[in-house]
Amino acid sequence: MKVLVVGGGGREHALAWKVAQSPRVTKLYCAPGNPGIARIAECVPLAADDLAGLRDFARSQRIDLTVIGPEAPLAAGIVDEFRKNKLLIFGPHKAAARIEASKAFSKDLMVRLGIPTAGAQTFTAVGPALNYLEQRDMPIVVKADGLAQGKGVIVAGTRAEARDAVRAMLERKAFGEAGSQVVVEEFLDGEELTVMAFTDGKTVVPLLPVQDHKRAGDGDTGPNTGGMGAYAPAPIATRDLVDRVRRTILEPIVEGLSRLGSPFHGALYAGLMIVRGEVKVLEFNARLGDPEAQVVLPLLKTDLVEILTAVAEHRLDRLTVDWHDRAAVCVVLAAPGYPGSPTKGLPIHGLAETEGQADLLIFHAGTASTPGGVVTTGGRVLGVTGLGDTFTAARERAYEGVRRIRFDGMHYRSDIGARALSKR
Ligand code: AMP
Ligand code: GLY
Repeated sequence: MKVLVVGGGGREHALAWKVAQSPRVTKLYCAPGNPGIARIAECVPLAADDLAGLRDFARSQRIDLTVIGPEAPLAAGIVDEFRKNKLLIFGPHKAAARIEASKAFSKDLMVRLGIPTAGAQTFTAVGPALNYLEQRDMPIVVKADGLAQGKGVIVAGTRAEARDAVRAMLERKAFGEAGSQVVVEEFLDGEELTVMAFTDGKTVVPLLPVQDHKRAGDGDTGPNTGGMGAYAPAPIATRDLVDRVRRTILEPIVEGLSRLGSPFHGALYAGLMIVRGEVKVLEFNARLGDPEAQVVLPLLKTDLVEILTAVAEHRLDRLTVDWHDRAAVCVVLAAPGYPGSPTKGLPIHGLAETEGQADLLIFHAGTASTPGGVVTTGGRVLGVTGLGDTFTAARERAYEGVRRIRFDGMHYRSDIGARALSKR
């Protein structure tokens, strides 16, 4: 089989790494890929949102399966475009990707389906939004409706902050079109959990539960980021809890989208808050999480290509998905400035020393090749994943890897997975 992975971050490196292990794959392409992916796949210089370019490439190279990593091409309708051209592709149609691309749509659907979520109201005008804030308790959460690269959510501690967030989105257009509607949502205090699932629009197969670390600093301090690290399987999520998430959240939303005439097939991501044993949805995404994919995919025993093909061909009910009984911890190495503007072009040292080491995987996220070597080009530069039979072992392995890599101003959290240890 010829497979094309679309995207160029840590999630796509993890996807390509796992796809490359499939005995069914004879040729692997990635567009645009990155220097890490280039070691296992042929990188094609096409941007992830170049829908026509990717379609033409898949047609001319007779690609048997295309796998979409990031949300932007899904929201732009790449799956619709490929399917119209009879090209097999993994990911949801544009209409189903609205579950991520519009928080107002997603919230409305959850309420209609009785899926537990934070209480919320949607606004398009400043006046009513500000009035609503006057009646609510603080803290409160203000969310831009559309895609904002994980930056469109403001957890406001005071009414002044909340007002400013509303004005920034609706008046000052700080997030462009993505902020032309805002969702003002009740603040939930609890523990966060991610449960992702493969689904073909009928069958829902949850992946191992994960915990992400959203804040930039140790002890969950500092600004929100796209994710500074993750670990799996999250001990807080018992088998019973994951089963409850499948029955009360994942299956109802998949069924609801089907009934709307926009069936969801691909990877569905539920961002959850556990509040005193009760599970509530913070958000849905229409793709695998990043860095979550960098811990979950290495623990997957089943051939990933079998799963992706079964999803794309709507026959997931006939497949069993197995996992390694191990733990994984991923530590993100970030560039100076992240989550603001990261410094680009910094030489990265020590990559060669981490190669071919047992239970250590280095996933490239924001890197570029230059004649002088690999340099930083994004905020989240590398994901260092350690594997082990216990969380202690996986964590030690990850941080051993971290210690071998250096670039100017490199920063990372030193407490990734610490919560898993205290739970055990
Ligand atoms: P989202 O993109 O909607 O998952 O929001 C990003 C992050 O903001 C989440 O991972 C949470 O840490 C935080 N967050 C979002 N919604 C809420 C909420 N209702 N209560 C508390 N924290 C929230
Ligand atoms: N790590 C959070 C996300 O991928 O949305």
